[in-house]
Amino acid sequence: MKALCWYGKHDVRVETVPDPTLLNPRDAIIKITSAAICGSDLHLYDGYIPTMEKGDILGHENMGEVVELGTEVRHFRKGDRVVVPFTISCGRCFFCEKQLWSLCDNSNPNARKAEKLYGYTPAGMFGYSHMMGGYAGGQAEYLRVPFADVGLLKVPQELTDDKVLFLSDILPTGYMAAENCQIEPGDTVAVWGCGPVGQFSIQCARLLGAERVIAIDDEPERLALAEKAGTAETLNVDDDDILEKLKDMTGGRGPDSCIDAVGMEAHGMTPDAVLDRVKTSTLLGTDRPHVLRQAIHACRKGGTVSVPGVYGGFADKIPLGQVVNKGLTLKSGQTHVHRYMRPLLDKILADEIDPSFIITHRMSLDDAPHGYEIFQKHQDNCIKIVLKPALGTGLAFQSEPAAAQFDLTGGARFEYQTQEIGGGFLCHKFH
Ligand SMILES: NC(=O)c1ccc[n+]([C@@H]2O[C@H](COP(=O)([O-])OP(=O)(O)OC[C@H]3O[C@@H](n4cnc5c(N)ncnc54)[C@H](O)[C@@H]3O)[C@@H](O)[C@H]2O)c1
Ligand SMILES: [Zn+2]
Ligand SMILES: [Zn+2]
Repeated sequence: MKALCWYGKHDVRVETVPDPTLLNPRDAIIKITSAAICGSDLHLYDGYIPTMEKGDILGHENMGEVVELGTEVRHFRKGDRVVVPFTISCGRCFFCEKQLWSLCDNSNPNARKAEKLYGYTPAGMFGYSHMMGGYAGGQAEYLRVPFADVGLLKVPQELTDDKVLFLSDILPTGYMAAENCQIEPGDTVAVWGCGPVGQFSIQCARLLGAERVIAIDDEPERLALAEKAGTAETLNVDDDDILEKLKDMTGGRGPDSCIDAVGMEAHGMTPDAVLDRVKTSTLLGTDRPHVLRQAIHACRKGGTVSVPGVYGGFADKIPLGQVVNKGLTLKSGQTHVHRYMRPLLDKILADEIDPSFIITHRMSLDDAPHGYEIFQKHQDNCIKIVLKPALGTGLAFQSEPAAAQFDLTGGARFEYQTQEIGGGFLCHKFH
């Protein structure tokens, strides 16, 4: 099959690799119809996550069609359309039983590697380094999914891929980020980062009752989307003194909660941000926690700082004195995706949320290296890319079905028709 493989910093390639096979009785094999590129993939692309190996297949925001089932999978049949959560969970361990799915004790075969860095291992994850299990990702034609009965979410045919794909990661991530803020009526929530995770954090903060949301980024089109789709007020890092403005906008008290939807690759020109950059580029540090510092500083006394943004190792100069003396609550974690998939699917079905608004690009798998580049550089107004592995280069992908027939010179007949693949119509040519 074809798959998008990691080869090093800013080097990803589409290669032909062996098809996945069933390894365990609780596995399923999925034919991928849509796989998104996540901001977390950029941490791999930028070379920040250790224990990657050349040839590793990326991709953890996946959905598709079940094509093979292990003997112990009970709840699915071939042909089912499913969304795959990005963390892998056994469903039976201490942590799974507590609904702490991203902390599953049984899904990381390389637990020892993660324990060295973190003390205890988190759950295994698709396409996210050997420390996280070395599982192949789904930016590929096929994907092996362990513990299929526990993780897979069957989705109704009437919903397009575009509407349900983000149940695999970023919609639950935005939801958990907002839920962690314990929003009360009248609250103001400040959200750093207006990438996909920030956009969903904003929407979910609204769903959970925030009166005001203040969105912060340095990309005008991302801020514009936050304003339009999330009715957020916006601050541009390049033009505004963020801390002063947040104070002004909240009567001097500070936002009730602050969400860091940026993580370890924050940019900025403040002295601490410049120092972070020097440290990480000289291997004296692993993370650039400028936004986390700012969020802690800005948050009102007794407020919550919620951190969906990913940090990998050790972060310097975190103002812990502020956390203690302002009585802040700090909440974080890889998302317990399984916990949120079904309730959020219900919200999509009820038209309370349509996650497809963040998609700016759809591409074939062959075009994925270009996709990574424009997503990382924020070119072409790129906010979210969905890869369509069933789509060949140069074949058109469109939102409406179509068919046509032509008689060609010489008597040949050319027939053209579209086939529905998740979220749209792929043009097929038949002679
Ligand atoms: N916890 C989880 O389970 C989970 C799941 C998915 C993604 N994530 C993480 O969430 C973070 C965001 O993901 P994404 O897909 O939205 O990524 P993204 O790279 O598209 O978005 C990050 C945004 O942060 C902005 N930014 C950078 N520096 C900033 C600053 N100083 N102030 C304000 N904004 C700044 C960037 O301009 C960009 O718009 C990443 O760290 C990703 O790894 C976590
Ligand atoms: Zn992700
Ligand atoms: Zn478990």
